[in-house]
Amino acid sequence: MTFETRDFDFAALAPRDRYKILIGTVVPRPIAWVTTVDKQGRVNAGPYSFFNCLSADPAIVALGVEYRADGSSKDTARNIRDTGVFTVNIVSEALAEAMVATAVDFDHGVDELAIAGLETAPGKAVASPRIALAPAALECRLHSFLDIRDSRDIILGEVVHAHIRADAVNDRLHVDPALIDAVGRMGGTGYALTRDFFDLPTTNETALKAEGMASLRRTPRRLPGAPPPVAAAASGRSDSAIGSQDEARMTPTGASKRKG
Ligand SMILES: Cc1cc2nc3c(=O)[nH]c(=O)nc-3n(C[C@H](O)[C@H](O)[C@H](O)COP(=O)(O)O)c2cc1C
Repeated sequence: MTFETRDFDFAALAPRDRYKILIGTVVPRPIAWVTTVDKQGRVNAGPYSFFNCLSADPAIVALGVEYRADGSSKDTARNIRDTGVFTVNIVSEALAEAMVATAVDFDHGVDELAIAGLETAPGKAVASPRIALAPAALECRLHSFLDIRDSRDIILGEVVHAHIRADAVNDRLHVDPALIDAVGRMGGTGYALTRDFFDLPTTNETALKAEGMASLRRTPRRLPGAPPPVAAAASGRSDSAIGSQDEARMTPTGASKRKG
């Protein structure tokens, strides 16, 4: 059995058509909301969904930054080349509009974070600041620019420091997806939430031989949206807002409390 397919020879496709096929099929994509500084120390922010984490040791993330239509580098790529650092901020649902506001192609040096009403907090290990309300931020040092072709920069960065909102990570370093509340990029102008998913633990050869596919069991998870951070701190955020598995390991302060 197979689907009937339509086939596309990428060599015969226009770049715009390749783009449409890739962004519609590789979904959802995580979004790196990248903050950088230029040589004068002015802060820039821009979202990038040609993004992922490629390795944990060393901790490498990748960004795909296209050139502008006039062939110039986007501010993010230029600043990374000039300063050797950048910060990847994770976009929660609450920050989606602000993130999209920073995708506007402002002139170099325009403070797009101020226009989007965002505050920053200083970096710990790098000169680029993080977005204060981002639930997590990864400070990166430039590892390398991959020489692909004259149309984009593919940038590898090594994560040297992470900030995670304190109530979202416990002592076992489990991160609570309800509090990260990340959005992903779909094709076109679409975004996906990460509140409705399922757990499916990895099985092993013995269980697969004994039980077959029945050894793989889904547990649905439906997470609430993250409350705003100030309200969360004031109310001591109840565990009832955390998914069942997280409930087993999180306290309101993020301390470890795993059952069993
Ligand atoms: C959700 C989202 C994801 C985006 N992903 C990319 C991307 O992966 N690569 C890219 O070159 N532009 C991407 N863009 C467009 C850039 O964000 C946009 O060109 C922005 O103006 C770049 O800002 P900068 O010049 O300050 O770096 C994306 C835009 C949005 C809204």
